[in-house]
Amino acid sequence: MTALDPRLLPDTAAVDADGVLSIGGVPVPELAREWGTPLFVYDEEHLRARCRAARTAFGDDAVIYATKAFLCTAMARLAHEEGLLLDVATEGELHVALAAGVPADRCVLHGNNKSPGELAVALAAGVRHVVVDSFDEMDRIESLVAAGSPAPRVQVRVTPGVHVHTHEYVSTGQDDSKFGFNLGNGDALRAVERARASTAMELVGIHCHIGSNVFAVANFADAFRVMTGFFAGLDLPEITLGGGLGVAYTNEEHAPTLAEWAAVVRAATEGLDARVLVEPGRAIVASAAVTVYTVGTVKRIDGVRTYVAVDGGMSDNPRPVLYGSGYETCDPRRTLADRPDRARVVGRHCESGDVLVDDARLPVGVAPGDLLVTPVTGAYGYSMANNYNKVPRPAVVFVRGGRSRLVVRRETMDDLLRLDQP
Ligand code: LLP
Repeated sequence: MTALDPRLLPDTAAVDADGVLSIGGVPVPELAREWGTPLFVYDEEHLRARCRAARTAFGDDAVIYATKAFLCTAMARLAHEEGLLLDVATEGELHVALAAGVPADRCVLHGNNKSPGELAVALAAGVRHVVVDSFDEMDRIESLVAAGSPAPRVQVRVTPGVHVHTHEYVSTGQDDSKFGFNLGNGDALRAVERARASTAMELVGIHCHIGSNVFAVANFADAFRVMTGFFAGLDLPEITLGGGLGVAYTNEEHAPTLAEWAAVVRAATEGLDARVLVEPGRAIVASAAVTVYTVGTVKRIDGVRTYVAVDGGMSDNPRPVLYGSGYETCDPRRTLADRPDRARVVGRHCESGDVLVDDARLPVGVAPGDLLVTPVTGAYGYSMANNYNKVPRPAVVFVRGGRSRLVVRRETMDDLLRLDQP
């Protein structure tokens, strides 16, 4: 199949008789005209449906949305309204969640190197629990509590010693990891015993996260088996089994659904008298969004290749550069047209590595002024966006019921000077 596989588009995507793509009832060319490009377009119904699917699959108060995948106040509010807890990995993520009106006791604090200041803020705010990641962090919590901070509930992050099939940069469950306490060498048990004995923290459970964009449910099953084996002897009320469910980015990829992942979690935790929590990020938001770009130049180098340059690039989607991630692309004015042409879709940044789609299938005759859409950019796109080459970060809109609303405005040239001192 050379056309874009429509299952990569958000739930409410529709293509009219002329081939024009609309999302949330709003034609994408109209969105580009109104808000400019590059533009992140999130399907609000899709976001809400994924939150609800996760809640249905895992139960109430069992799903923690990993905000690192995509966070702004509108997203924090949406996840909270849909009944999810929020995983915040830094004081910054906590700050945004609290600013959105999410109560601190609906937030869970993560991080492998939480600063004393960061911990002090989280403890004072009263986060639901802190996932402790090192003995140094336990020292810090003890000092803070001795100095008057409220004692937090904690879970101990465990590295179960399993390898998963994903990119090395996002694999976290193996022994050689900066995250958590090693199970194999006894650190995890030592951490549990220390937390249990400490009056500065209330130990409520253990945690693991084996990696991200994992496609093989067998990988999860292996890790969960190890974790539940350890958990069974501890007499604790909670176990968090992380996030990591992969999503399909290209026509060729197929990922398990939230319900399939939940079945693996259920099978592994059957018979445990415990609250089982999970922490999905990507699976909630990735396929809810597309990025819309405008083509600026088309350079045909005979006998070599064609370069199609758009008005964004590695500053709004660094994933291809970082992980070699694949994406599809289509022209939203002829969305499901055949794509017999090949080109490298690149950005506007000053380096050759600035590639969005290495060997893209494109409809015939893409030209300057055309729009291009990359689907499945809702996770780790805007959240990893940056200002390389002083390119302002794009706007983000939510679309629903025929209307779009701006949830993050486009950065301006003045924003680029905001931090500079005269
Ligand atoms: N829980 C913890 C403790 C995590 O570290 C993460 C992701 C998650 C949950 C959510 O994982 P997810 O369900 O989204 O896979 N920038 C990379 C992904 C880094 C993931 C970091 N941790 C990427 O673009 O692929």
